[in-house]
Amino acid sequence: MPAPHSTIDDLTRALEGAGYHATRQLVTAVFLAMRLQRPLLLEGEPGVGKTELAKALAQVLGRPLLRLQCYDGMEQREALYEWNHAAQLLRMRAAQASAAPDEMEREIYQARYLIRRPLLQALEAPAPGAVLLIDEVDRADEPFEAFLLEYLGEYQVSIPELGTVRAVAAPLTLLTSNRTRDLNDAVKRRCLYQWLDYPERERELAIVRSQVPEASTALTEQVTQFVSRLRSQPFANAFQRSPGIAESVEWAKALVALDTLTLDPEVIQDTAGILFKQREDVAALQPLMDQLLEVQ
Ligand SMILES: Nc1ncnc2c1ncn2[C@@H]1O[C@H](COP(=O)(O)OP(=O)(O)OP(=O)(O)O)[C@@H](O)[C@H]1O
Ligand SMILES: [Mg+2]
Repeated sequence: MPAPHSTIDDLTRALEGAGYHATRQLVTAVFLAMRLQRPLLLEGEPGVGKTELAKALAQVLGRPLLRLQCYDGMEQREALYEWNHAAQLLRMRAAQASAAPDEMEREIYQARYLIRRPLLQALEAPAPGAVLLIDEVDRADEPFEAFLLEYLGEYQVSIPELGTVRAVAAPLTLLTSNRTRDLNDAVKRRCLYQWLDYPERERELAIVRSQVPEASTALTEQVTQFVSRLRSQPFANAFQRSPGIAESVEWAKALVALDTLTLDPEVIQDTAGILFKQREDVAALQPLMDQLLEVQ
């Protein structure tokens, strides 16, 4: 059997088999990230499948998924490694009088006293390498981005006490961002780039069908139709944030749980908290209801 990623079509099918429905443009970007061993930066609205793509890729490629969730103030020791001080201390206590200080220092700064965090784990993963997800990189601060430069450019890091650690096999590296701030240009230049948009109706239909098989065909069609109208003009202007794919899937599940057969204004209003997470958006829905439900 050929590898699941020998062509773009194969990779598309493999991802679909894992429940992930991607555009050809996105699969091409992933394919090239693998071939060229370049990181791939994914930007897009919340809930359009950025994080999920890394999970699905790890599954279809049979590679371990290593995930680094970024946040403001994250330090290298949480991303890369830290020394296991407790174990080092125990070792020193045990040796106490018997070892010379120099010897002791060499002894306790060995690889076995390292606590490996996702970025180091990704370098050390055996061939064919890991899938490394650096999630929501826009939440990390600028010093962390600066640190990422060496990592992304060369897939290596230096540990002062041990030397340089190079990747056994380049990890397939995905960075995601919700664009809460602009990323450093130098980081962007090291990456391939892909914007993830809201899906076309057919693709969303396929996603909801595969993730909520218990929903009837009619209900799935109504859900995707309604959500796609919410995201399109002129309706989209009325809301601060349009629902993502995640919201469509959740909504379909909720409607099934409520035994809904067809959408009506009442059930939509009652479940609006699944589509929108802002009070103003929930309130903006009511006056548009008739227009949204109008048959085109
Ligand atoms: N292309 C897709 N194929 C299948 N399911 C999808 C797809 N995109 C999104 N989903 C569904 O939407 C959910 C949310 O997607 P995901 O968490 O990847 O969004 P995200 O873009 O990372 O959002 P955020 O920016 O909020 O982190 C997934 O768990 C999955 O159920
Ligand atoms: Mg995400």
